[in-house]
Amino acid sequence: MEFRTRVCEIFGIERPIFGFSHSIPVTAAISRAGGLGVFGATMHEPDQIKEIAREIRALAGDRPFALDLLLPQSVGDDTDLAEARAAIPKKYHDFVEGIRQRHDVPPSRAGSFYTRNLRSQTLFAAQVEAALASDADVFAAAVGVPAEVISRARAAGKKTMALIGAPKHAQRALDAGVDVLIAQGYDAGAHTGTIGTFSLVPQIVDIAGDVPVLAAGGVGSGRHLAASLAMGAQGVWMGTAWLVTTEHRTDPIVLEKLLAAKSDDTVISRSYSGKTLRMIRTAWSDEWNRPDAPEPLKMPHQQALVGELLAAVREHRIAPLMWEAAGQSIAYFNEVTTVAGVMDKIMDEARDAARAVAALG
Ligand SMILES: Cc1cc2nc3c(=O)[nH]c(=O)nc-3n(C[C@H](O)[C@H](O)[C@H](O)COP(=O)(O)O)c2cc1C
Repeated sequence: MEFRTRVCEIFGIERPIFGFSHSIPVTAAISRAGGLGVFGATMHEPDQIKEIAREIRALAGDRPFALDLLLPQSVGDDTDLAEARAAIPKKYHDFVEGIRQRHDVPPSRAGSFYTRNLRSQTLFAAQVEAALASDADVFAAAVGVPAEVISRARAAGKKTMALIGAPKHAQRALDAGVDVLIAQGYDAGAHTGTIGTFSLVPQIVDIAGDVPVLAAGGVGSGRHLAASLAMGAQGVWMGTAWLVTTEHRTDPIVLEKLLAAKSDDTVISRSYSGKTLRMIRTAWSDEWNRPDAPEPLKMPHQQALVGELLAAVREHRIAPLMWEAAGQSIAYFNEVTTVAGVMDKIMDEARDAARAVAALG
């Protein structure tokens, strides 16, 4: 039982496991282990994206890999970060200053992508340009699926994929011509909608017709892979799993939190990007739940507000405020192992699960 589904044919992979990561070594390791590694490029400048794609290619050899971008159409076209920060009402800056003082966070010296960039359509266009010019085999779009970008990716010879969190968004992605849909449920780490994976996946499979669907959100074991196939998906797309792998090189403070976390240690918060995002609960999410906390701003202004503080938290390793996006499947990842180890285990467990169901007669 190798579970060689249609997505294996489409992408030339051996295992129906797609792995999303912000880590170059993790992305390459997933592809090398027979799945499809997907690098999240949203936090990188266009020149970096080109370089990252070269590094992944060097590590992955001729195995296919994908680049993924967040392309929310709700974000405007202001590109001036300083101006955007200056326009944020004082009560927000005061609240962020309060977090800084309560936790004694020195200023950031290095900064981050979000202390240099304001998410805007101009930035997205430049990121898309870099991704399409790279030799990534696949282009994945999340949070928005602009039809024009999908058709350009196809014209550039890339397979295309789109992450969606609700049936009402499926048709638009299909009309744009994507090769595969990813049905990502509420359990998932990072940006997530409101519909649970079990409720979502079969609905998207029905709407998608001949277009293959991957199940995402809460996949933490081979039992989930077998269940996803039973729901009509052609494979799984996982993000949380890789955070505790050796290749990910997670900061030990965050790693400890991830290894200890159970499903209900994750919370949904708009405190990072302005959109609902599942993260492990820490003093950061608690701060934004204080009775005196303002409602977080919308994307891209929340990131303009908190970008410097979060860069400083990471740089100075302010333990209580250090967090990571993670989904409810974090409960399944309690020890550090390799990417290939995670994938082998999932395939073995899926075979056992499928056999157990078949044995029911
Ligand atoms: C740390 C982390 C960061 C993520 N960042 C992005 C991102 O930048 N773009 C994106 O499309 N999805 C992102 N995701 C979501 C994944 O693509 C995937 O849909 C999700 O992790 C699947 O659910 P799971 O976390 O239960 O495995 C992220 C997930 C995690 C855990």
